[in-house]
Amino acid sequence: MPRHNHHHHGHGHGTIDGRASGWYNFLSKSFRRLAYRRIAKDVARSAPRSGAVLDIGTGPGVMLVELHRFRPDLELTGVDLSADMVAHAKRNLGERAAVRLADVAELPFEAERFDLVVASFSAHHWEDPAAGAAEIARVLRPGGRLLIYDFEHAPYDAIAGQSRLDDVSRGPFHVGLGRLMRSQRFEATATTGTQRS
Ligand SMILES: C[S@@+](CC[C@H](N)C(=O)[O-])C[C@H]1O[C@@H](n2cnc3c(N)ncnc32)[C@H](O)[C@@H]1O
Repeated sequence: MPRHNHHHHGHGHGTIDGRASGWYNFLSKSFRRLAYRRIAKDVARSAPRSGAVLDIGTGPGVMLVELHRFRPDLELTGVDLSADMVAHAKRNLGERAAVRLADVAELPFEAERFDLVVASFSAHHWEDPAAGAAEIARVLRPGGRLLIYDFEHAPYDAIAGQSRLDDVSRGPFHVGLGRLMRSQRFEATATTGTQRS
């Protein structure tokens, strides 16, 4: 009998089976979409008209999908260190963004290529955040901005230590329920003129 099935599948021992797993899948997808929409809306406010935006550690590219809905004028690029994630992102984004396999510490772009660089829940994975920050500063045009959304323990100080990043600020950012609730928004601006090497 279907309604007794869960007794044979570890009910009460941490597993989520059958109909419950369907609900879990549905709910987590909904909350994630909500979180990405909040981030995308915030990014959309910071991007100049027809600006070039780079999303570092784009994962499956869901934030860029949402950003494209708000700002179809933007030229979107995503990079990720994982070939599997790049494949997912390419499938999810199609023509809406260029997606490439790359490490934040070695970005395959010319200097001053982007108006805005974004990283959502990726910076806490970076092996060398200072090297990443140097690369971000290099690919941002003077006056271009960096936006990072991440957990409280992400390496904000190492990134803020990059001499070509200015006007640094950070504060709580509400992206959704649960663990993500305690996330932060970090912002910086690439310096102009003589300070750039
Ligand atoms: C938790 S996922 C976040 C994905 C997506 N931005 C999101 O908000 O759902 C972190 C991503 O960062 C990527 N990543 C980790 N280290 C990286 C690095 N050094 N350079 C580029 N991407 C990196 C991982 O492969 C992973 O896809």
